[in-house]
This record gives sequence, structure tokens and C-alpha cells, in this order.
Amino acid sequence: MNTKNNIYVFCNQKGGVGKTTTVINLGACLAQLGFKILIVDTDPQGNATSGFGVDKNTCASTIYENIIQNKPIEQTIIKQVIQNVDLVPSNAHLAGLEIEIISFSNREYYLKNILNQVVENYDFILIDCPPSLGLLTINALTAANRLIIPLQCEYYALEGLGQLINTFNLVKERLNNNLELYGVMMTMADFRTNLTEQVINEVKDFFQEKVFAAIIPRSIKLSEAPGFGKPAILYAPNSRGAFNYRLLTEEFLDRQNIPYNYQKEDKDENVLNNYDLKNVSDNIIEKVEE
Ligand SMILES: Nc1ncnc2c1ncn2[C@@H]1O[C@H](COP(=O)(O)OP(=O)(O)OP(=O)(O)O)[C@@H](O)[C@H]1O
Ligand SMILES: [Mg+2]
Repeated sequence: MNTKNNIYVFCNQKGGVGKTTTVINLGACLAQLGFKILIVDTDPQGNATSGFGVDKNTCASTIYENIIQNKPIEQTIIKQVIQNVDLVPSNAHLAGLEIEIISFSNREYYLKNILNQVVENYDFILIDCPPSLGLLTINALTAANRLIIPLQCEYYALEGLGQLINTFNLVKERLNNNLELYGVMMTMADFRTNLTEQVINEVKDFFQEKVFAAIIPRSIKLSEAPGFGKPAILYAPNSRGAFNYRLLTEEFLDRQNIPYNYQKEDKDENVLNNYDLKNVSDNIIEKVEE
């Protein structure tokens, strides 16, 4: 496969919006389709790491060691955490990195230089960010070609987005003019409430066609899966959450016309009907920023 433009960063400085869950499950879905995936955990919380069943406290190194000790990334990568998925793990060691590299020249380019060593080995590299716009996130935005913003279907979903978009624009202008906003995806949707539909409409008004049609529902299985160290699409493959992550994956590939071989026969039309959000009043949510 053409390995240009294959580094995706999942970023929102708001905590708990579904960044990690999306990286894990989109990565696992792509892997099931046969693509070779590298997941890069840049969050000192190490949730993408433990989400694949890796004990973050015992992993030999993280990008901290790659950066500070100049260790090759190959020595950090954990191979085949599931079939077709390799992982650059993270743990609390990374927490000090931002302070340690603040005075280094080229401090924004470390991750880019590290990933350059392995980019050709993978079809897709997915970077999970911490909930901040600090140097770790700046490194991730500088290393990537495409930004995906996960948003939670709740009041104030758009809160803080002005700051995120400003950061995106600054990085694009000064550090990485290859960066593009690839998509905005909505998660933790509860279609029993009007709120979810209103928020989705609000976000669609704002981001238009950038918003993925596949919307991830609130799903107990998605929240249980990390406790079992497995992506939900493996832990509960028939759950609604897993199903919708597969829809998101299809759309992710369709947007760039990448062919894939996928069983579509169990597609649930009811889920698709949930995306018909016409006739919903959109003036209830406050415009939060800008
Ligand atoms: N669709 C969903 N339905 C129910 N629970 C979910 C869903 N998506 C994520 N969760 C749960 O919500 C919590 C936050 O999700 P997640 O860790 O993916 O967010 P995050 O943006 O990566 O958080 P952080 O900013 O702390 O890194 C987790 O406990 C996760 O299991
Ligand atoms: Mg996370």
C-alpha cells in the first residue's frame, strides 16, 4: 500500500471523549481487514497500552527512552499485541518528558523523527494523544498527516475546540504543513435522548462534511473491554459499539478509496437510520465558542 499520508493523530485536549477507545478499536478493525497497524501511545496514562493487555509498568521502554536516550524505536515497539497490530507503549515515565525537552532545539520534531524510522513498515500509524495541548500533543500533530477529532455527544461538545483548531492551524503553519483535518467523529451517543441529536446537528453545522456519518453509541461493552485488555471489537464483536466501530472503519477507508474485503451482510439498517437527523431543532445548544 502507498504509505504516504498514513499517520493519523487523535486529538482533543478534553479528557474522556473517546480518543483511546477509538484508536484501539479503529486500529483493531483495520487490522482485522489485514492492514498492518502501529499504535503509538503518547499519553502518560498509558490507556492505549493497557487497552491491549500490556502491563504499562513493566514495558521495557516508551518514547521517553527513544527521545532521551536516543534508543531506536524498534527496541520499544511491542510486536503483535493482537494480530497485525504493533504498539509503542507508554507509561508514567513520559510525564516528565515535556519539561525535560522544553529547552531542546527541535523539541517539536522528536516523534516525527522517531516514526520516520518505521513509517514504511505500516499501512496506518494511529497516535493516541493525552488530554492536553502540551509538547507531547504538539509532537504528535507534527508527526502526523491527518487529524481526527473525537467528540463526545454532550452539551459543550464544542467547548475548547477553538483552542484545538488554533493549535492545529499553528502547527500546520509553522511545523507541519502536511497536516490536514481528516475528520470529526462523534462518540458516546445515546439516541434515546434528544440531546444527542441536537449535539450531532450542532457539530455538523460547524464541521460539515468532515463529520463521519458513523456515530459510536454509548455502550457498556466498549467501557468494559479495556478491563479485559482487549479491543471491544474482539471482546464483544457482536455488540453495537463494535458494529459501529466497523462502520467507522469502512468510512475511514472509503474516504480515501482504499479497497477492503469486508462482510457486509449483517449490516443493521436501524443503526443507519439513527443517522437521519433531519427535523431536529438546532437552536437549543448554546454556541460555546467563536
Ligand atoms: N462509546 C462508549 N460508550 C461507553 N463508554 C465509553 C465509550 N467510549 C469510551 N468509553 C469509556 O469512557 C472512558 C473515556 O474513554 P477514553 O479513554 O477512550 O477517552 P479519552 O479521550 O482517551 O480519555 P483521556 O482524555 O483520559 O485520554 C473510558 O472509561 C472508556 O472505556
Ligand atoms: Mg486516552
